[in-house]
Amino acid sequence: MSDQLSGVSAARAAFGALRSRLLGRHAPLFVNIEPTHRCNLACTFCDKHEGEAMRTEDGVRLLEELAALGAVSVCFDGGEPLAHPGIGAMVDKGRDLGLAVSISTNGTLLPRRIDAIARANVVKISVDGPEAIHDHGRGAGNWKKALAGARAARDRGLWVALRMTIAEHNVGHHREVLRLAEELGVEALFQPAIGSLLDATRHAAAHSPHVRAYRASIDDLVALKRRGAPVANEYVALEHLREWPDPNPVPFCGGGRVMAAIGPEGGVYPCGRVGRDRPAPNAIAHGVARAFDDVLRPTDCASCWCTLTLANCYAYRFDPRLLDGRFSPPSLDDWRALAPPELAAVAPPNDLVMLRRKRA
Ligand SMILES: C[S@@+](CC[C@H](N)C(=O)[O-])C[C@H]1O[C@@H](n2cnc3c(N)ncnc32)[C@H](O)[C@@H]1O
Ligand code: SF4
Ligand code: SF4
Repeated sequence: MSDQLSGVSAARAAFGALRSRLLGRHAPLFVNIEPTHRCNLACTFCDKHEGEAMRTEDGVRLLEELAALGAVSVCFDGGEPLAHPGIGAMVDKGRDLGLAVSISTNGTLLPRRIDAIARANVVKISVDGPEAIHDHGRGAGNWKKALAGARAARDRGLWVALRMTIAEHNVGHHREVLRLAEELGVEALFQPAIGSLLDATRHAAAHSPHVRAYRASIDDLVALKRRGAPVANEYVALEHLREWPDPNPVPFCGGGRVMAAIGPEGGVYPCGRVGRDRPAPNAIAHGVARAFDDVLRPTDCASCWCTLTLANCYAYRFDPRLLDGRFSPPSLDDWRALAPPELAAVAPPNDLVMLRRKRA
């Protein structure tokens, strides 16, 4: 998964997921923290770029409590997490506690803030198409800044993924995003622009893509991935996302069971997109453990359209399709590169399966 878990963390996550599934002993293993809902941009399709910011000391305390509860990874989201003055302290605290730390960002502040967040494991940077298209949705000059951010993070050794939100203004431009990812030597993630980030049941709005064009893009992404393009979404995630905007329940919702999102005010939600329509238990006021006990655990959600969240749900199910494409029969070139010289001229055995080399 794109959180780049170490072997030990992956084993802890698997154990925690089993405990939750089999014994009903839930724990916040994968947590989105929104240090701020403020943002330096105002994208045409986003309704989550205004509001409160968390105090840095509260963020640090939440991380300590999460680690004590067995959390494996945290993703700083927003708003724009790099617009929070304490983001560096929170990243460092997360890493000191042994958490895998990722950041979802528009990338524009990365060149300036790279030293502060250099210890993060992963950055996911929004890139919605070629320059004119991206800037149409995100404001003039922001494509250049986002790509400068991607280069800065890559050059510091962070694992980088571009992230395209497919909307009305950019549908059909996924190949350009893949080309940029290829040029940078990174991967790219894709997801639909839903009606509202604060109400996932609003599956579409005027800024959302036309359904037929959107589904053609997803079909193309599946075909390109099969041919080796750096599409980071798992096949099962693409299959699920293709159904948007038709309601599509995941087999097992991990929201409030192994996942949680914590808003700037301390509210604890099952995931980044659900539960904002009602009062939420508060982790800053009452502690993470108590708030997570009372978190909403949805049973009938059919709105899992964030590709990272839904991959976690399929992982919670231990769905073997998540491994599809990670293992592949070797090509003749792979065999020639690996086999000792005396065997290289001989055809490879049919059943040899090797791990596909991961793009870094
Ligand atoms: C709310 S942003 C926060 C992180 C950062 N500010 C950014 O833009 O990447 C997280 C993700 O939500 C996406 N997003 C914004 N509006 C959306 C919508 N209406 N539907 C789906 N995703 C959306 C953004 O493109 C981004 O990939
Ligand atoms: S998508 Fe990200 S960058 Fe754009 S307004 Fe929303 S929070 Fe800000
Ligand atoms: S199924 Fe719904 S509630 Fe559960 S994680 Fe996905 S979006 Fe969140």
